[in-house]
Amino acid sequence: MEDVEIDAPGPGQVLVRIAGVGICHSDFLPRTPMAKPPIVTGHEGSGVVAALGAGVTDLAIGDHVVLSFDSCGDCRNCLDAQPAYCTSFWPRNMSGFRPGRPTNVRDAQGQPVKGNWFGQSSFAEYSVVAARNAVKVDPSLPLELLGPLSCGVLTGAGSVFTSLDVQAGSSLAVFGTGTVGLSAVMAARVAGAAVIVAVDVNPDRLRLAEKLGATNTFVADTEDLVEVVKALVPGGLDYSLDTTGVPAVVSNAIDVLRLRGVCGCVGVQLKPLLVRPDQLAFGRTIKGILEGDSVPKLLIPRLLELWRQGRFPFDQLIRTFPLEQINEAERAMKSGAVVKPVLVPRKDVS
Ligand SMILES: NC(=O)c1ccc[n+]([C@@H]2O[C@H](COP(=O)([O-])OP(=O)(O)OC[C@H]3O[C@@H](n4cnc5c(N)ncnc54)[C@H](O)[C@@H]3O)[C@@H](O)[C@H]2O)c1
Ligand SMILES: [Zn+2]
Ligand SMILES: [Zn+2]
Repeated sequence: MEDVEIDAPGPGQVLVRIAGVGICHSDFLPRTPMAKPPIVTGHEGSGVVAALGAGVTDLAIGDHVVLSFDSCGDCRNCLDAQPAYCTSFWPRNMSGFRPGRPTNVRDAQGQPVKGNWFGQSSFAEYSVVAARNAVKVDPSLPLELLGPLSCGVLTGAGSVFTSLDVQAGSSLAVFGTGTVGLSAVMAARVAGAAVIVAVDVNPDRLRLAEKLGATNTFVADTEDLVEVVKALVPGGLDYSLDTTGVPAVVSNAIDVLRLRGVCGCVGVQLKPLLVRPDQLAFGRTIKGILEGDSVPKLLIPRLLELWRQGRFPFDQLIRTFPLEQINEAERAMKSGAVVKPVLVPRKDVS
């Protein structure tokens, strides 16, 4: 933890006082060659608008907002309502830099620190974000818990509602029941799927999956797992979703499908997939998915309405930690004890 200076919001930007921020796997990428420190990560933030940059008209000081990933709003995929595939997604979200401006954060020695991780860098007390990426929410909602709606929860729910377009009465198998997988399970129940299978190595996660809507759960080392899952529905399942990124698991996720079934892949992985042509020869599809193909300003309010109705209890995945306990929170996440840690900055910050 260290003090940094952050510039006032520029044109089209707002300063947000962070109320809570989830930890998601991409936040660890600066420990790999993919994104170099010094950088402030954190990309599942929520908070209160504290200052407005020039030209911001759709937000006001005091508004409650959830901070989503950044996109340009103007490229081919943004215009097609697919901002997660913005052609400048990588520099805007994974470099830590601001388009056209190296950085807006400096350390105590005045040295630049990257401050635009996923357009927000929200492992902090304050964050400057583009107003375009701040989703206004009802102030009566529990603001400090809402950040994960912008990535992990959005990805699981969007994968079911949009990418796979799960139909009422259909069947889905979810491999890996962390934040993304459990959000997919909840969304599949909302969508009216008749068979919702959950597979994980962690039996506690499977118990939670049952509570959230899974109709059948299996530990990953179940003997003849593929045959057992496939046998639940004559001919195999309509859809599967891999959230593990483990090549052998993706292969199982394809094998449980019926003829023409669709397997969605959200697990980020660097190892090659092991897929035989005959696994696909049955008209099956493998589909790569970013952020559940979602438009955050459309999906987040829908998820909040479902939460209000008790039909999408994403808060059951969350445990809060003081921001200072970020290392304890990471350990709890990696041990499997906590599904989604959310860091809460001190409230007495000026
Ligand atoms: N594509 C996207 O837009 C996007 C967005 C958010 C997260 N992600 C990625 O999705 C993945 C899942 O994210 P998460 O937040 O749900 O992570 P998580 O760690 O909470 O969940 C992963 C789950 O997979 C389980 N698992 C591990 N190995 C397994 C195996 N062999 N068989 C079955 N289950 C196994 C773990 O026990 C865990 O419950 C990560 O790789 C993350 O980086 C992708
Ligand atoms: Zn994420
Ligand atoms: Zn774009």
